[in-house]
Amino acid sequence: MDVTAIVLAAGHGERLGADKALVDLGGTTAIERACAHLRDAGVEDVVIVRRAGALPLPATAGAARVDCDTGAMAESLRAAIRSRGPSLAPRALVFPVDYAMVRADTLRAILAVQAPVVLPRCRGQVGHPIALAREVLAEIDTPGTQTLRDVIRRDPARVAVADVEDGWTLRDLDTQADLLAARGALANAIPATELLARHRSRRAYRDEPVGDAQLRWLVDSARRSSTSSFIQACSIVAVRDPARRARISALCSDQDHIRQAPVFLAIVADLRRIARACERHKKRVNADTLEIFVEATIDAAVVGQSLCLAAESEGLGACMIGAARNHPRELAALLDLPRHAYVVFGMTIGWPADDPELRERLPLDAVLHMERYDDARTDPALDAADASLRAWSRRVNARMAPGAKRIDETRGWSDRMAFLFGGDRPHKGRQNLAPELREMGFSLDAPPKPPA
Ligand SMILES: Cc1cc2nc3c(=O)[nH]c(=O)nc-3n(C[C@H](O)[C@H](O)[C@H](O)COP(=O)(O)O)c2cc1C
Repeated sequence: MDVTAIVLAAGHGERLGADKALVDLGGTTAIERACAHLRDAGVEDVVIVRRAGALPLPATAGAARVDCDTGAMAESLRAAIRSRGPSLAPRALVFPVDYAMVRADTLRAILAVQAPVVLPRCRGQVGHPIALAREVLAEIDTPGTQTLRDVIRRDPARVAVADVEDGWTLRDLDTQADLLAARGALANAIPATELLARHRSRRAYRDEPVGDAQLRWLVDSARRSSTSSFIQACSIVAVRDPARRARISALCSDQDHIRQAPVFLAIVADLRRIARACERHKKRVNADTLEIFVEATIDAAVVGQSLCLAAESEGLGACMIGAARNHPRELAALLDLPRHAYVVFGMTIGWPADDPELRERLPLDAVLHMERYDDARTDPALDAADASLRAWSRRVNARMAPGAKRIDETRGWSDRMAFLFGGDRPHKGRQNLAPELREMGFSLDAPPKPPA
């Protein structure tokens, strides 16, 4: 392929606290990874730009190295152009090593677009690496041109985009959190079906951050889930502040993992936007039906599960927090939720530090019926679920530290369910749910309470 790749690896890596080219990404350095992807994409001519005095690169990177003084992007490009001279290929791919996670098929897609400037575009945002015709790249050496951005913006008519799915075109490796995210994604790149089979709620987390870029990417993925009648009635409030998480924990049965996780997410059923849409069209929102409440709640649950799976796909662990419904009004006030919005459940997310015993689910035959529901399967399902929960309790107890509180191994699933839901006792901790939801704008088909 008639392309010279210019891999920019001259930065100081100050925010990362390490030489970006040499950080480990799934068993290889970032620079080796970038070079391997370039090779897989058919790019053989590779120039790596380093700062003078920077550490040597692994020999396997198999590319020419050229040094520059400061490591600024424009200076790096000038150094690469000079080093190649007339042998620079007709097109260049400017590939900052911060984007070493970008896949080979993405590089191929960028190079497949023929235009003087080609930017990868993912989910509406443009990212890196960027392909440029040799003459366009040479403009970096003209007076008055400070940055590559100046070159790209000079003439919008010569810019084309390559639409790609690869989110790593937007996610650079700038901080430790970004590095953790990249490593997590590499270690967990497995099919969704396998991820689901491996699912465990995680309730202890390492003292390591989940960065904003990763959080935004995960929520951006989850918010694309199906949505009833396109109502898009889910919002998410992310809470990092430790003092606020401590207050949330106090409202959620004092669950310690809410204090311990780096971030708590409130998954909100949110009719505020629909109420506002009605106002704009001179109508009052009818949020009083059970149906709209259920629709908004389902929307939130669907997004929440997608988010959990997305997080697990990058090696994060999560635990949903239904106790967020213990004090719906107080939690809504803490989060400044508007009327017609409530937290359906919360979610703690972080890098898991525990290794909980996997909990088997009801047998498949109890859940999947063909053509008609077969109630004859109910009792065998209960027997299987009882035996499975007892076996789980035995496994958990066998792994427990001496002196720790043991689980009752005699209790099966059916007696747990009978304990939780048998009799007239209101669901523990949720006595006020319906009256509080009514005060928050969901009257659940009951006539609204007249104002006091
Ligand atoms: C909507 C919802 C709310 C939950 N609430 C809590 C909670 O408040 N605290 C908690 O520790 N786990 C909570 N969980 C996690 C369940 O306890 C867990 O999914 C279940 O026991 C099965 O275990 P597993 O997820 O490890 O397979 C919740 C799960 C869901 C789906």
